[in-house]
Amino acid sequence: SSALPEGYICRPLQRRDYQNGFLDVLRVLTTVGDVTEQQWNERYEWISHRNDEYFLLCITDSTGKVVGTGALIVERKFIHNLGLVGHIEDIAVAKDQQGKKLGLRIIQALDFVAEKVGCYKTILDCSEANEGFYVKCGFKRAGLEMAHYY
Ligand code: ACO
Repeated sequence: SSALPEGYICRPLQRRDYQNGFLDVLRVLTTVGDVTEQQWNERYEWISHRNDEYFLLCITDSTGKVVGTGALIVERKFIHNLGLVGHIEDIAVAKDQQGKKLGLRIIQALDFVAEKVGCYKTILDCSEANEGFYVKCGFKRAGLEMAHYY
């Protein structure tokens, strides 16, 4: 089935998710740091003014706590006849909620948005350890990531 567990919902990120454990879910992915509520509000504001470019989703459990999240960023190109490319970023499911298909549902939802807004493809970077997950989500290996850290 394509349903979420009873009482769980998938919805756009909201300002109040600062209080709902959104940043704690991201901590399963990487370092988040001490983001104050004011810093959160400023970043949330910036993103919310770009709501045709940034699509941040979260899954909440029956108590309203954030248990999963993911982002789609839509890049506007000149090539491919002014093509749009979706970039999937920062997929995370709370440790004790993994294995319930929440990650899959997040990717399916972001994929749906990407296709709806007219992206001709969606790409992402991941570790070898996560390749199997993305293959199950319908992605295939393409290219190689390079990084330059500052
Ligand atoms: N390797 C192979 N298969 C996997 C993996 C994996 N690492 N993780 C899940 N799967 C499989 C599941 O077994 C399931 O298969 P099934 O349909 O045959 O049962 C299918 O993929 C879907 O799994 P979900 O239950 O939806 O996965 P989950 O909700 O646990 O989310 C995720 C997966 C997001 C990778 C989660 O484990 C997580 O948050 N990990 C830590 C953070 C992380 O690494 N995020 C991804 C970074 S890459 C990026 O953000 C672009």
